Amino acid sequence: MSSTTSPACKKLLIFGATGLVGSRITREIVRNKSKFERIAIFTSPTTVESKSDQIQSLKKEGVDVIVGDLTNSSDVARAYEDIDTVISAVGRNAIEHQIELVRLANESSSVHRFFPSEYGTDIEYGPSSAHEIPHQKKLKVRAALRSTDRLDHTFVVTGPYADGDSGLYFSANASAKQTGSFDVKNKEAVLLGDGNLKISFTTMHDVGKLVVLAALHADASRNKALRVNSFTTTDAEILKEFEKQTGGQSWKVSYTSLDELRRLEKEALAAGSPFATVCTLRRIWAEGGTLYEKRDNYLIDAEDVMDTLADAVAEAIKVQKR
Ligand SMILES: NC(=O)c1ccc[n+]([C@@H]2O[C@H](COP(=O)([O-])OP(=O)(O)OC[C@H]3O[C@@H](n4cnc5c(N)ncnc54)[C@H](OP(=O)(O)O)[C@@H]3O)[C@@H](O)[C@H]2O)c1
Repeated sequence: MSSTTSPACKKLLIFGATGLVGSRITREIVRNKSKFERIAIFTSPTTVESKSDQIQSLKKEGVDVIVGDLTNSSDVARAYEDIDTVISAVGRNAIEHQIELVRLANESSSVHRFFPSEYGTDIEYGPSSAHEIPHQKKLKVRAALRSTDRLDHTFVVTGPYADGDSGLYFSANASAKQTGSFDVKNKEAVLLGDGNLKISFTTMHDVGKLVVLAALHADASRNKALRVNSFTTTDAEILKEFEKQTGGQSWKVSYTSLDELRRLEKEALAAGSPFATVCTLRRIWAEGGTLYEKRDNYLIDAEDVMDTLADAVAEAIKVQKR
């Protein structure tokens, strides 16, 4: 798209709408439904059956549920009719399928904006980002989007999630404790480095808000990697907040140095273990890969509406106790 202003993002189609972050994005879009003209999701027959309550409640909210196979071109082309904006939140296993979703969106007569499934680490942070293994598929999707002639894009770059769900940064991270852990039940934490490394985080609730605001600020978010977040903090500050909100006593603390994290990453890579991805991402975050001179929240009016560290810890405690 070459004109200087962007058409509005009003008729949305969401892929991955019932997934971990997709469900939060969809919830915020639905909460703001009066600001959009149409909300549709594209999902599989399996999900319609296995998550029938979630699907029914979306239908009750007026969401169009389009059922099909995301790898079938005619299913996708049909779903794109009367849609102007595609918001993808597909999981890591489906990232490459988006290249075809982008091609079909570029061919469609109505879609003008594509939000690929990002919502994480800045995959173009610096020269070394191009070589990070977990970034490769998302980089290909960015390249596919940049090579289209009719589509605009928005990359919503949020850093790690400040949430307590399994494996996320504010969780006990039971299967990979050495890479960092905040374990509410046992009042134990594993901090990276000396605990004072700064990392920018986004709660999944805020990821939803940020996608909505990016869609509503179609000009400001056009053809940009929006580097947004909820807050910037350190492991030591996170621990202090967990201690405060769990009765005030000190937790048992141990540390994993960056050298140890790099050693674990190398070992997992050599063994071909999926644990390597966890190590790589946590190493990138600990090395400062989420820190910017200035965050982009101001571009989409997302400065004063973000969750705080205290909000994130309160929610993570609830999730861990569930
Ligand atoms: N920043 C972080 O800390 C962080 C953490 C986790 C994930 N992420 C990022 O967030 C994005 C979404 O990840 P997620 O964990 O939310 O995803 P997820 O829950 O694993 O999956 C999301 C959805 O993808 C759809 N899907 C369709 N075909 C699929 C296939 N073949 N394999 C996998 N999923 C398929 C499904 O849609 P239906 O709902 O229609 O069934 C599924 O619910 C990814 O880009 C991921 O890298 C970031």
